[in-house]
Amino acid sequence: MSLLLTGIAELVTNDPVWGELHTDPGDRLLGVIRDAALVVGGPGPDGTGPPLIEWVGPASEAPDADQRRHLGGRALIPGFVDSHTHLVFAGDRSAEFAARMTGRPYDGGGIAVSVAATRAATDDELRTLVAARVAEARAQGTTTVEIKSGYGLTVEDELRSLRIARELTPHTTFLGAHVVPPEYADRRGDYVDLVTGPMLDALLADGRDASPAAYIDVFCEPHSPHAFDGDEARAVLEAGRARGLGLRVHGNQLGLGPGVQLACELRAASVDHCTYLSDADVDALAAARGTTVATLLPGVEFSTRSPYPDARRLIDAGVDVALASDCNPGTCYSSSMPFAIALAVREMGMTPAEALHAATAGSGRSLGLDRRLAVGEPAELAVVDGPSHLHLSYRAGVPLVRALEPPVRRPGCGPSRR
Ligand code: NIG
Ligand code: FE
Repeated sequence: MSLLLTGIAELVTNDPVWGELHTDPGDRLLGVIRDAALVVGGPGPDGTGPPLIEWVGPASEAPDADQRRHLGGRALIPGFVDSHTHLVFAGDRSAEFAARMTGRPYDGGGIAVSVAATRAATDDELRTLVAARVAEARAQGTTTVEIKSGYGLTVEDELRSLRIARELTPHTTFLGAHVVPPEYADRRGDYVDLVTGPMLDALLADGRDASPAAYIDVFCEPHSPHAFDGDEARAVLEAGRARGLGLRVHGNQLGLGPGVQLACELRAASVDHCTYLSDADVDALAAARGTTVATLLPGVEFSTRSPYPDARRLIDAGVDVALASDCNPGTCYSSSMPFAIALAVREMGMTPAEALHAATAGSGRSLGLDRRLAVGEPAELAVVDGPSHLHLSYRAGVPLVRALEPPVRRPGCGPSRR
């Protein structure tokens, strides 16, 4: 079964083949086709997985298909890749947000509140909460989501958090080293030993391929008394790497620190936040181009009343940049990628095209995904209720974008191929 999509005023392909035809820098970057068409086919050759794109090009050259859908002059874009979320949690921390708005600084201490509530929740309660958050993201154009653990912080609670996350996405990250939980406050070393020993043992008991975690992450932040310093973070990352997990790092969120350079040295897939950067950090990220993506999370600066990272400085230095939501109960309880894009454009010096590219191709790259709309790629699509992608930030706050349901419906944010 194939579906021909027409009435596309602007198609964002992220494909340089189409970008080369333009002189406008934004259109070049996004590989824009105006008055376009796209054909979605069935699943891949093995009969499973997402529907694949069968044809892309100008509407005047479109082939026939089994079904047709007219998008009424809207823009069609690659679905957002939200490459940084913490969706597995219970409880409520809205009062902490309100206190921050009157001047209380963020130091990571509130994470313990979510840990207590998450430990107390049943599997079914957690499953329902996570599924609702994934559906909320999809309703705003996110077709691929990464989900971290990190509110369990016991062997059993980290394992079940990741198993529940894995029911909804293959892009799962073990964040046992989120903070030192209160019961280990006087023996931090023992907690690092628990993360690097029994927790990893449990996750990898049946081997790397059967593990519910694809990545390991650590909150490397000397400015938080609850998070991990450079040596502790290195121990965590090296232990995960030795077991075959990919690496991700929370770094340089609250001040200058070792996270960014550690991530680059260890060839992490992503280092996230990057709010405070020295010149040496920027140089390290530029040298790590093609390996380590700098993932910016402007919803966090919004929700913690902090200065925004300087995306222009990173892009001009040649760094691979991604945007993600960091949806979590503490520093940013927003699953909205359009909100992150609007903040990046208004506050961080990104053009609308750079922000959309970072929220699709950039964040996809950090998960090893090719997020182009090209023949043979998964049909992970989102429709903008406007004639161009510019409306994402131009009409900030308006619910303009949603994931396009493919002809064969899949639950949640399904797997994408590399
Ligand atoms: O990415 N910085 C560490 N972790 C989360 C916040 C977690 C929380 O406060 O619950 C973040 O900002
Ligand atoms: Fe985070």
